[in-house]
Amino acid sequence: MPSLTPTVLDTERLQLRWLDENDVAAHFAVFSDPQVTRYWSREPWTDVAQAAEAIAATLAAYADGSGLRLGIVLRASGELIGNASLHHFFEQNRRCELGYAIGSRHWGHGYAGEALRALLGHAFRELDLNRIEADVDPANLASTRVLEKLGFRKEGYMPERWIVHGRPADTVNYGLLKRYWTEQGA
Ligand SMILES: CC(C)(COP(=O)(O)OP(=O)(O)OC[C@H]1O[C@@H](n2cnc3c(N)ncnc32)[C@H](O)[C@@H]1OP(=O)(O)O)[C@@H](O)C(=O)NCCC(=O)NCCS
Repeated sequence: MPSLTPTVLDTERLQLRWLDENDVAAHFAVFSDPQVTRYWSREPWTDVAQAAEAIAATLAAYADGSGLRLGIVLRASGELIGNASLHHFFEQNRRCELGYAIGSRHWGHGYAGEALRALLGHAFRELDLNRIEADVDPANLASTRVLEKLGFRKEGYMPERWIVHGRPADTVNYGLLKRYWTEQGA
């Protein structure tokens, strides 16, 4: 697992930064929205204490190097609109998994792509990762589009991998290698 230090990544419109206790309400707003959790195997949060627990787990993961979840902030307003994470690090194999969510009010402005481009650059350069994995419900077209625009390649298909809101849901496995990233000049 990498040794993590406070991270700030600036893009044209966004800042990605470590989360802290002051972000509980905004973090709750993202994950209490059923549109955001539509393809997830968890129900939307109903209690702000769930957001507080998640932030505490995020802080613990910074400390032990097991996960890097960054808040995504609009630079113009300072509003926290979502988050993106690198987790399940396998240090010897220099790989991890990617997760992300943007509050539904802010969908369709290119924020996910912009934020993830910065995070992936950080992952390959500063964290020296070689491979990043993502899995996505094939019905989640926005997420699929985001991954493919970033250069992720479809590598596999796992039927009924998850139970999502009571129904089995398939997964498409995606992977992005450092050399794909370098080849596309990112
Ligand atoms: C996936 C998600 C992060 C995308 O956030 P976003 O900021 O709206 O993404 P972007 O604007 O960067 O890009 C979305 C792309 O998907 C496209 N898209 C959106 N809805 C679509 C749909 N129903 N069908 C096809 N394409 C779609 C957009 O047109 C855009 O592509 P473009 O840049 O070529 O126009 C957001 O929808 C979200 O948070 N969803 C809930 C959480 C989630 O599913 N996370 C991923 C789990 S794998």
